[in-house]
Amino acid sequence: MDKSNILEIKDLHVTFYTEDGVVRALHGVSYDVPENETLGVVGESGCGKSVTALSVMRLLPRPQARVEQGEIWFRDKDTGEEINLLNLPEEHMRHIRGNKISMIFQEPMTALNPVYTVGDQIEEAVLIHNPKMSQKEARERAIEMLKTVGIPAPEKRVDDFPHQMSGGMRQRVMIAMALSTNPEILIADEPTTALDVTIQAQILELMNKLQEQFGMSIILITHNLGVVAQNADKIAVMYLGRIVEKAPVREIFHDPKHPYTEGLLASVPRLDKGGLKEHLPGISGSLPSPYNPPPGCKFHPRCPYAFDKCRVEEPPQVEISPGHTVCCWLHTKEETRHE
Ligand SMILES: Nc1ncnc2c1ncn2[C@@H]1O[C@H](COP(=O)(O)OP(=O)(O)O)[C@@H](O)[C@H]1O
Ligand SMILES: [Mg+2]
Repeated sequence: MDKSNILEIKDLHVTFYTEDGVVRALHGVSYDVPENETLGVVGESGCGKSVTALSVMRLLPRPQARVEQGEIWFRDKDTGEEINLLNLPEEHMRHIRGNKISMIFQEPMTALNPVYTVGDQIEEAVLIHNPKMSQKEARERAIEMLKTVGIPAPEKRVDDFPHQMSGGMRQRVMIAMALSTNPEILIADEPTTALDVTIQAQILELMNKLQEQFGMSIILITHNLGVVAQNADKIAVMYLGRIVEKAPVREIFHDPKHPYTEGLLASVPRLDKGGLKEHLPGISGSLPSPYNPPPGCKFHPRCPYAFDKCRVEEPPQVEISPGHTVCCWLHTKEETRHE
């Protein structure tokens, strides 16, 4: 592993075997998560963002999902060990999951249990990871966490049931639960998608603040490139089970190389161009069926620049400047394009 990284995903292939057929959900996904940085993972719904995250957590649905190939390296700061999570016995993985790598799931309502108070649920998370702690200490920790995530009157709200809270407050509870064990990595899977714009901004700001306070790495997953603009250091753009472009956030916004990234950028509403519009010219067409993906570059049927080679051969990943990689024949050297 590179010394600066806490997590490295290498050439991950995941396939789903379902009644309807075989879906290659991930084919060759690689990304690195540096310590104390935020990696934004962006792409349309269905491109494999959650499957990648669930692979890291070792929570892929069984028996349908199978990891066919790849490695997921994690640096355990307590022991200094570098561990391939995919080879880890489940018992050891349970210790890492929640304690060292926490995930905020896409659906806060399904992740919170409606019949227990939010306090009970945070206390339970705290106690699982600190078995020697007393009930009273766990409750104090739950109240402290609710306060940290900006919930007013936490000593009262701790006894609320999830349905007594607004969507924004529930999402804060989810963050409190995920952070209650002080993880090294927080995976936030579309943490603000269900919330209105003002609350979204508050939650993202809160995550930034907590990152500074606790010193952790964040994988911020979203289908909206606008969300990661101010909250990520680097961005990985996914399309149909592959990373098509990776770069520092500034380069993605000011010098995007992949036509898909360009399309995503065009779909981000801009305030400086005549107000906020919901639908701006983005990418034409929709994501192809994962059961029957196109040959060649998976993006070619929707790409305004596609030429013959794109329709038959999958482009390799090339590094066009330090830290900026792209999979696109437009950006591969002339001699390879016309060989
Ligand atoms: N439980 C499942 N059963 C079958 N296929 C699945 C399942 N979950 C995900 N997939 C496949 O994996 C692809 C990627 O899904 P996902 O990672 O959830 O997308 P994203 O999070 O980017 O919206 C989907 O398009 C689908 O084909
Ligand atoms: Mg998802």
